[in-house]
Amino acid sequence: MSTDATPLDELRLCDREVWKDGPPHAIFKRLRAECPVHWSKGITEFPTEAGFWSVTKADDVHTVSRDWEGYSSAHGITAVSDAVMPVELVSAMFIGMDPPKHDRLKALFQRGFTPKRIAEHEDAIREITREVLGRLEDREECDLVTAVAQPVVSRVIGSFMGIAPEDDEPWAVLMSALVAGGDPDLNPTGPEAIMQEEIPKLFERSQALIARRREAPTDDLTSVLVHAEVDGETLEEHEIVMGFFLLMAAGNDSTKATYCSAMRALMEEPAEREKLLADPSLVPSAVEESLRMFPAFGHFRRTATADTELAGCPIAKGAKVVLWYPSSNRDEDRYEDPDRFDVERNPEHQAFGAGGRHFCLGTALARLELKILVEETLAAYPEMEIVGEPAYAVSPFANQLKRLPVRLGPRA
Ligand code: HEM
Repeated sequence: MSTDATPLDELRLCDREVWKDGPPHAIFKRLRAECPVHWSKGITEFPTEAGFWSVTKADDVHTVSRDWEGYSSAHGITAVSDAVMPVELVSAMFIGMDPPKHDRLKALFQRGFTPKRIAEHEDAIREITREVLGRLEDREECDLVTAVAQPVVSRVIGSFMGIAPEDDEPWAVLMSALVAGGDPDLNPTGPEAIMQEEIPKLFERSQALIARRREAPTDDLTSVLVHAEVDGETLEEHEIVMGFFLLMAAGNDSTKATYCSAMRALMEEPAEREKLLADPSLVPSAVEESLRMFPAFGHFRRTATADTELAGCPIAKGAKVVLWYPSSNRDEDRYEDPDRFDVERNPEHQAFGAGGRHFCLGTALARLELKILVEETLAAYPEMEIVGEPAYAVSPFANQLKRLPVRLGPRA
């Protein structure tokens, strides 16, 4: 069992008990100070999984992220390689590919995700957010995760992908089970069942939509995938399905995670919330601070392509190298008083990755959604307060609250 007191050479950083209350910030602090590139011998729950290196300092995360030739994404993108989803499936998504194919596939979408193109969706996103907040009118309390965050982000990505509104919820449930596979509430059937039960359901749903878009293309992103040509060839069916998955998974889970943790921090730090209420132009800075302190993903991973060295540690060819954003974003060498939530800080951070080929495609969309969600929630319910125990998804990958019970307070 791994805890704060475990000797570092016995620490297994991905073990479930380490993550039951969210990211293990005390352990990360110790690692940054004593062993910034750390070896975990294995993952207790998945005995067939190899051990992995953990990278905890911002400079080292930066180095690995930018070196795609030395650190490949084509052999698994999370610390758990194969035990939840086979590597062949992960490698059919461009997040699990290396250049040149990665770059060609990503380029198909990049035009649709520029800040300028995304800004065109501002009114639509605000309308979705107001409609969802409007549903709370007769209620005194709600769970912010399921009543606000999930329906807003699901409708936004659903509208990009061409999904009917009534299908938002079933998709969201399936995606949460996939992304936070180890959490008993989000995935009651357990991690092994994902392959047998959830993935086939997801495949069926995706294939039905893909078939419709083949027949009759629209201007949604699913149509882009279906009709995409890379080097003169269209994508194979499983590449289309997995491309669709990637966008659905990224869109459904990530923004929700940072929004809920941001709202929690604002309710726990009323003085910071007051600053935003007094001056809403601070919201974009508060969004960056929330991304820094509460990055939506605990980690992504690479695999060393040759024997190498990182911060003095010998890394063998084929070893897994895990980049921990909740740690690098609180690196004392980059941030003063890193655990303090400061809406005026407007920091740079690594929540979207640290540059390089796999830097998040959805940054502009995520930033816009977060800004609108925070603005509209504060405008509607400026006195919202926490009324029960918030709970984290138990997952070293999905850094998100699964429950945030709030009293709404008077509507402004
Ligand atoms: C708070 C919100 C979000 C956070 C914190 C986030 C974070 C990340 C991170 C850390 C990566 C991997 C970076 C790396 O490996 O170097 C990534 C990749 C990616 N993200 Fe996001 N993301 C967010 C929202 C979104 C949204 C809304 C979308 C769009 C639908 C999206 C689409 C993607 C895609 C497609 C990739 C793969 C990029 C590639 O491999 O080249 N993300 N994101």
